[in-house]
Amino acid sequence: MAGFASEPAPAVEAAIFDLDGVIVDTAKYHYMAWKRLANELGFDFSPKDNERLKGVSRMRSLEILLEIAGLRLDEHSKAELAEKKNQWYIEYISTISPAEILSGVPEFIGGLRKLGVKTALASASKNAPTILGNLGIASLFDAIVDGNAVSMAKPNPEVFLVAAGRLGADPRRCIVFEDAEAGVEAAHRAGMYAVGVGSPDVLRHADHVIPGFAGLDPAAILELAQRRRTPRCTPHCQV
Ligand code: BG6
Ligand code: MG
Repeated sequence: MAGFASEPAPAVEAAIFDLDGVIVDTAKYHYMAWKRLANELGFDFSPKDNERLKGVSRMRSLEILLEIAGLRLDEHSKAELAEKKNQWYIEYISTISPAEILSGVPEFIGGLRKLGVKTALASASKNAPTILGNLGIASLFDAIVDGNAVSMAKPNPEVFLVAAGRLGADPRRCIVFEDAEAGVEAAHRAGMYAVGVGSPDVLRHADHVIPGFAGLDPAAILELAQRRRTPRCTPHCQV
């Protein structure tokens, strides 16, 4: 297996980007919609609780929300609540525009492509096509995999492995950019290098954490990933 200390470091073939909270701050719209639902059900929902929902599927998010409140509901009621939340969310994102693309994202992805790195979007969201359409950035990606194309939500690695497959890239030669703990875990389970986008306090398991993409040098990130010498599953890790 490539990546052990005695073997050459892998060259990066592909970069895979999460959408919500990485390309655009839709995480705040998801939070607003879940909080509205929680309040309607009679409990509060804090930003800290919300971290557990990031990256995970809509239905799993609802289950976590209900767990927090200590509520048990039947499948029909859960489906209704998830749909209600989604309608609010769709309303919030209906006016999203290119101005909301996070700073430095198009430049960074463009820079990677100039260096010969393939790019993919890998999101758990079934609303990803709407968001990409409103932002006008679908052409930044060689492949797009969203919640409509996969059945197992992060931290399952399926979405990243499907993205790598569509790019024809070796998963061990892929870098993932993720704002969610579940996404970092999914990237690692796929054998990929995980760059956390956000706070190191939250993204404790990421291989490297960046606050955002503004001014970020694509070549420097590739260099970091290429220096990775051991997979995290070995007892003698020395990243
Ligand atoms: C992820 C978000 O990208 O997509 C989660 O981080 C969200 O918060 C999930 O629950 C599913 O999104 P959607 O748009 O299909 O409800
Ligand atoms: Mg995200």
